[in-house]
Amino acid sequence: MASYGFFDDLNREYVITRPDTPLPWINYLGSEAYFGLISNTAGGYSFYRDARLRRITRYRYNNVPLDYGGRYIYLRDNDTAVFWSPTWQPTRHELENYTCRHGLSYTVIDSTCSGIKAKIRYFVPLGESLEIWQLSVTNLRESPARLSAFTGIEFCLWDAQDDATNFQRNLNIGEVEVDAGVIYHKTEYRERRNHFSFFACSEPLAGFDTQRDLFLGPYRGWDRPAVVERGQSLNSVAHGWAPFGSHHLRLELLPGETRQIILLLGYHENPDGQKFDPPGSQTIDKRTIQPIIAKYLRSENVESAFAALRSYWDDLLSVLHVETPDLHTDRMVNIWNAYQCMVTFNLSRSASYFESGMGRGVGFRDSNQDLVGFVHMVPTRARERILDLAATQLDTGGAYHQYQPLTKRGNDQVGTGFNDDPLWLILGVAAYLKETGDDSILDVLVPYDHRPGSEQPLYEHLQRSLHYILERLGPHGLPLIGRADWNDCLNLNTFSSSPGESFQTAAHRDGKVAESVLIGGLFVLAARELAAIAEWRGPKEDASRYTDEAARMEATLLEHGWDGSWFLRAYDDLGQKVGSHECDEGQIFIEPQGICAMAGIGLRDGRAEKALAAVKDNLVTPNGIILLKPAYSHYYLELGEISSYPPGYKENASVFCHTNPWIMIAEAIIGHGDQAHDYYTRINPSAREGISDVHRCEPYVYAQMIAGRDASTPGEAKNSWLTGTAAWNYAAITQWILGIRPTLAGLEVAPVIPVGWSGFKAQRVYRSVTYHISVERVGPGDSVALVADGLPVAGQIIPLPPAGQAEVKVRALLG
Ligand code: GLC
Ligand code: GLC
Repeated sequence: MASYGFFDDLNREYVITRPDTPLPWINYLGSEAYFGLISNTAGGYSFYRDARLRRITRYRYNNVPLDYGGRYIYLRDNDTAVFWSPTWQPTRHELENYTCRHGLSYTVIDSTCSGIKAKIRYFVPLGESLEIWQLSVTNLRESPARLSAFTGIEFCLWDAQDDATNFQRNLNIGEVEVDAGVIYHKTEYRERRNHFSFFACSEPLAGFDTQRDLFLGPYRGWDRPAVVERGQSLNSVAHGWAPFGSHHLRLELLPGETRQIILLLGYHENPDGQKFDPPGSQTIDKRTIQPIIAKYLRSENVESAFAALRSYWDDLLSVLHVETPDLHTDRMVNIWNAYQCMVTFNLSRSASYFESGMGRGVGFRDSNQDLVGFVHMVPTRARERILDLAATQLDTGGAYHQYQPLTKRGNDQVGTGFNDDPLWLILGVAAYLKETGDDSILDVLVPYDHRPGSEQPLYEHLQRSLHYILERLGPHGLPLIGRADWNDCLNLNTFSSSPGESFQTAAHRDGKVAESVLIGGLFVLAARELAAIAEWRGPKEDASRYTDEAARMEATLLEHGWDGSWFLRAYDDLGQKVGSHECDEGQIFIEPQGICAMAGIGLRDGRAEKALAAVKDNLVTPNGIILLKPAYSHYYLELGEISSYPPGYKENASVFCHTNPWIMIAEAIIGHGDQAHDYYTRINPSAREGISDVHRCEPYVYAQMIAGRDASTPGEAKNSWLTGTAAWNYAAITQWILGIRPTLAGLEVAPVIPVGWSGFKAQRVYRSVTYHISVERVGPGDSVALVADGLPVAGQIIPLPPAGQAEVKVRALLG
C-alpha cells in the first residue's frame, strides 16, 4: 500500500507528502462567516456565510480532470520560460519535496522546482471576511533567478446555482475594477447588491488580468495559460464572460534570497448609501475596505493574525484533552475529531467535496446532532444555533427539515414531515444543558416558523416535539414514520415509480400506516431526557408525565417492535415488517438496536444485550458495522430510496458511519468496553491510514460511509467531512468509552474501557472548572470509585466545587 503522508501530532497537522492522493484531501479555512475549502493541491473555493448564495470563487464539481479551480500561483523562470505550480495543480509539473500540511483552519503547501522553493500558507484571520495567502519564494540556486509569479482565481457571480446555469444572463453581467493594484469583483453591484470581493497583493504589479479567457487563451485550461506561457499579463478588464483575478509580479532573487508576498482575497459589504464614490458614479466606494486591505498587507499583522488563530484552537482543544494507551484514540479525540465537529457545526451539510454547497442548507436533525460534538467548545454559539433551529419549528411541533443559513428561514422545497426531526431538538437542548447548566435558555421566547406573535418559551417547543409524535401513532401504537425518519432513504409512503421524483418529498400514500421502531426508541430517549430536565428545574409534574409516556412507548416497542432476537426496523404501508427475520432482504437493521439500548429499552430483560449480539453476528465487518443485512438486491416500491442504491453503498448496507457509535454507546452501557473500543477502532480514520489506497478519503476525518461487504469496493469511503459521524463518534469515545460525561447535575466519570488498558488521564474544562482526571484500573470491571481532591465521592458524578475554585483533581479507581 502506498503512503500519502503522516500525522504530525505535535503540530496538529496532517502532512501529505505526495500530491496525487487517491482523492483530493481537503481542509477548511475560516471559523465564523468567511469560509473556504482547500485541497492538498490548492483546489477549492470560498464563500461568505452561505455556500450557495454568496459564492466568492467558482468551482466545478465532478470536473475532469479532478479538482481544477482553486487558489493558484504559477511561477515562471523568465530565463528558460519554464513554469510550474508550487501546489502541483494546475500545471502538475514535477516537484521536489512537495508537502501539504493541513492544520486547524489553515493549510501550508510547500515545494521546490528548479532550485526555487515556494511555500504558501492559507488562512482566514479570526473575525475577518478575507483569506490570506502568504507566499514565500526562495532562490536555492547559486545564481540570481529572474522569475514571474502569476496568481489565478475565477470569480463566481455570487449565487452558485444561478452561476452554473443561467448563462444567457450571466455571460453579460460580469464587472470588475482594478485600482491601485487591487482587483475588485463587482458583478451586480450596480443594482441590488452592496457587496463585492477583492483580490489584493502586497507587491507592485507588472500587470494583471481579469478576463479568464484572455488569461487562459482560447481552448486552453488552467494547466497552460497563454499569459503564463508568454510571461506577460494583458491587463485585461472583464466585461461580461468570466471575471477572473490574476496579478503578475516580477521577482529578481539573489542566491539564497527569500521574498515574502502577501495576497488577500476577501468579501466586503458597504454601508447603505455608501456604495459609490463619487456618489452618482459606478465606482465602488472603497473607503471602508481600504484600511482592512492595508492592515493585512503588512506582514506583522498577518503573523499576529496567524498566532491568534493558533491560540483560538489551543483554547478550543484544551476543553478536553486525553492521554490513553491508544494513539488513534488520542489523536482523534484531542485534535481531528474535535476539529471535524467544529467544521460540521459551521457548515452543516452544505459544502464539501461531496456536497456542492448549492443543495442542502442547515439540516434540523443534522445540526441538533452536531451540537453534541461541539457544545463544549463554543457553548454560546451552540445556544444561538439552538434558538435558530427552534425558530424553524412549526406550531404542530414538527419542523422544517432544513433552513438556509443566510435567511434562517425554513426551506419550502423540502418542507416538513420527517417525523423524527423534532425529537433531535430535545437531544440537542439536553446536550447544551448538561454542558452549561444554563437553564435560562428554556425560558427564551422563540417563534414558530418565524411567525411574529407566535413566540413561546423554548421549553414549550420541546414539549410540542413530544406531542407531535404522540399525535401521530400508527396501527401498532408506534410512531408514524412520515417522509422518512433518521434514515432519509426509508421512504415508506413514497411508492415512487417516476424516475427522478424525490423520494423524500413525493408521497403517494396517506402516511397513516407505516410506523418506525426507530422513532419509537428515539421518543423514549427524548422523553426521558425531557423528564430529567423537568425533574431538575421543574415543573416536576411534567417529569412524571414524560416518564409515563416513555414507559408506555417502551411497552409498545417490546410488544410490537421486537422480532425475537433484535428490534424490528418498521412496519411499511402494507403493514409488513421491515427488518425482521421474516423478510427476504433487510432482515436486521443497525439503527434500532443502538437507539433502543441508549434509551434504556430492554436493558433489564436482556433484550438489549441480545440485540447487540445479533449486531455482532450479522452486521460487523472489518471495515465497521454495516447498516443492514442482507442488502436489498432490487428496488422495492414500498421501501423507497434505500433499495435504490446498489448493494453495499449508502443506506443499502454500507458501513454508514453515523450509526456505528450508537452501537459503541450501547455496548458501553451494557459494560462491554473491549467491544465498544473495537468498533470504535474499525472506523477510526487514523487507524485506517495504512489502507489509504482502499479507504481513499482523508485519513484524518470521518466519512459518511464506507462501502460495505456487498459492495464491489468494500472499505472504500465516500462523503468525507460533513457527517453526523463526527459528533456521534466524539460522544461515543469521550462520554461513553472514556466515560467523561456531562450531566445536568455535574460531570460524571464512568469509563467503560478495554480490559487491557491500565487507565488513562484526561483534562476537562467543565462549567469553568478544570478537572484533572486520572483513571486507574484496579480490576477487570467497570465499577468506579471516585476521589475528588482527596475526598471520596458518592456515586459517579463529581459535585460542582464551591464558586471560585477553578481546579479539581479526580482519581477514578476502576475495577
Ligand atoms: C445523511 C443526512 C442525515 C440522515 C442520514 C441517513 O447523513 O444528512 O440527516 O440522517 O443521511 O439517511
Ligand atoms: C440521499 C442520501 C442520504 C441523505 C439524503 C439527503 O437520500 O442517500 O444519505 O440523507 O439524500 O436528502
